[in-house]
Amino acid sequence: LRIRHYALIFMALAMITGSNYAQTTIVIKFSHVVANDSPKGLAAIHFKELAEKMTKGRVRVDVYPNSKLYKDNEELEALQLGVVQMLAPSLSKLSALGFHEFEVFDLPYLFPNKEALHRVTQGPIGRDLLSRLETKNIVGLGIWDNGFKSMSANKPIHTPDDMRGLKMRIQPSKVIATQMRDLGATPLTLSFTYAIDSLRFGLADGTENPPSNFYMMQFIDLQKYLTLTNHGYLGYAVIVNKKFWEDLPAEIRVQLSSAMNETTKFANAMAQQQNELDLAAIRSSGKTTVYELTEAERIQWRKALLPVQQQMETRIGKETLNAVTQEVG
Ligand code: LMR
Repeated sequence: LRIRHYALIFMALAMITGSNYAQTTIVIKFSHVVANDSPKGLAAIHFKELAEKMTKGRVRVDVYPNSKLYKDNEELEALQLGVVQMLAPSLSKLSALGFHEFEVFDLPYLFPNKEALHRVTQGPIGRDLLSRLETKNIVGLGIWDNGFKSMSANKPIHTPDDMRGLKMRIQPSKVIATQMRDLGATPLTLSFTYAIDSLRFGLADGTENPPSNFYMMQFIDLQKYLTLTNHGYLGYAVIVNKKFWEDLPAEIRVQLSSAMNETTKFANAMAQQQNELDLAAIRSSGKTTVYELTEAERIQWRKALLPVQQQMETRIGKETLNAVTQEVG
């Protein structure tokens, strides 16, 4: 009888606090498509550790890497439905929800350096872009870097002309597809999980990745040449289900936001390091030849790809494109 008595008091107290979460552990399922030791994977684990520490164990973050739970063409839907609570898709992939402005980050040779890029991703433009996701039941908590992508194939690529006729696996993005077509290549849009098979079975001849994804996916066994074009940015929007986020107790939201802010700093510093380490590992593997463009070749690549900005202005939106161009200029 006494136990029942206490149980009733406990239930009453839980009701008075008005929170569903009064006594239970809040679980955040964080799903992503890359390995634990990739920049995004390491950042996700860092966030888990900080979030659990800062909330004193009231929150538990379960990280599901390698598309274990959802592939990248399914995960956005899962987030909107609340089946998972957190994701970090590449910025390009938000286009699938109709947010074409995020493809601004795919424009080749738009960001002259990391500082200019961070003025956009970590500044008011980045925040404004993330806030637009709320119309689709999504809250954006931050933007994490991976790095700059380079072209790979099984034949040497030095000039833009060398891309002619190649079938290139890309992420879903009209901007990236246009970039490939402008080079005379054929874009093949595939989920990240299928990228490796597309190369293995000859569906694709090449791909574009930062060194970290290239090395982590063992493309060294499938691609003989990697040319450091560093033409386009790959970064991630860290997003949560809006209803889940807004239903959290206010103090938990504050703690998770500060865990996220710290993780973003960690993520960006570590992504740079990881890409450098992975590039060194690709070079020393002896399997993929890494080619550095000459200055004259770099000018040719820029010349071939800068028109994409103009071609994609309507898709991205003039306002977003102008704002970004001014910020980085
Ligand atoms: C890709 O599809 O190439 C990337 O977005 C994968 C990732 O999440 O890094």
